[in-house]
Amino acid sequence: MTASLHVVDHVLLSHRMAALRDAATPSPRFRRLLAEIGAILTVEATRNLPSAMQRITTPLTPMDHRVLAGPEPVLVAVLRAGLGLLEGAMQVMPEAPVGHVGLARDEHTLKPAEYLMRMPTEVTTRGALLFDPMLATGGSAVAAIDRVKQAGAPAIRFVCVVAAPEGVAKVRAAHPDVAIWTAALDEKLNERGFIVPGLGDAGDRCFGTEG
Ligand code: PRP
Repeated sequence: MTASLHVVDHVLLSHRMAALRDAATPSPRFRRLLAEIGAILTVEATRNLPSAMQRITTPLTPMDHRVLAGPEPVLVAVLRAGLGLLEGAMQVMPEAPVGHVGLARDEHTLKPAEYLMRMPTEVTTRGALLFDPMLATGGSAVAAIDRVKQAGAPAIRFVCVVAAPEGVAKVRAAHPDVAIWTAALDEKLNERGFIVPGLGDAGDRCFGTEG
């Protein structure tokens, strides 16, 4: 069975998406928005993490309370643009170890090339949440998931901001066990592999570089 695609519907998210997509939004604000969106999406993507009951004592009385059944999963940023989302994810899950996968998409072939891989050993027991704002052709997401699986992750959730139908289909075909959370499912890819309407190049907009 193929894992689910979750298009997160929340007015606070949608409000931020309008500003994130706006071509007039400058880089510092774009970064802040990406962090806030990362926090909201992380809350949604972890909604059904396994939980357990724990005995605690309030100042007035003992009670049984729902808590996480295990330690927080590893947060993995796909560089560079995933760093923007990671900042918000770390606010929500401050105890989580952090991994990085460096991938750059060749603008002509649209194929991703790996330049960095650093993964905490906890990934083999805790699983991972992967962050990359853009799911375009899906080549980068499939390569990143491949690498995190090779590192031993038993379960992976993929979190993005804008997804193209082509990218969703590619990830689901290659990794049917990986559920996807996105703030938006856009219309299509253009001839240069950019998501339309999209938000442009997330990495360049996040860090103020030119394409
Ligand atoms: C962008 C984006 C994804 C990838 C999506 O990164 O952040 O990682 O392209 O495209 P795909 O689904 O077609 O593979 P890019 O390679 O431009 O690197 P950057 O984050 O360093 O800007």
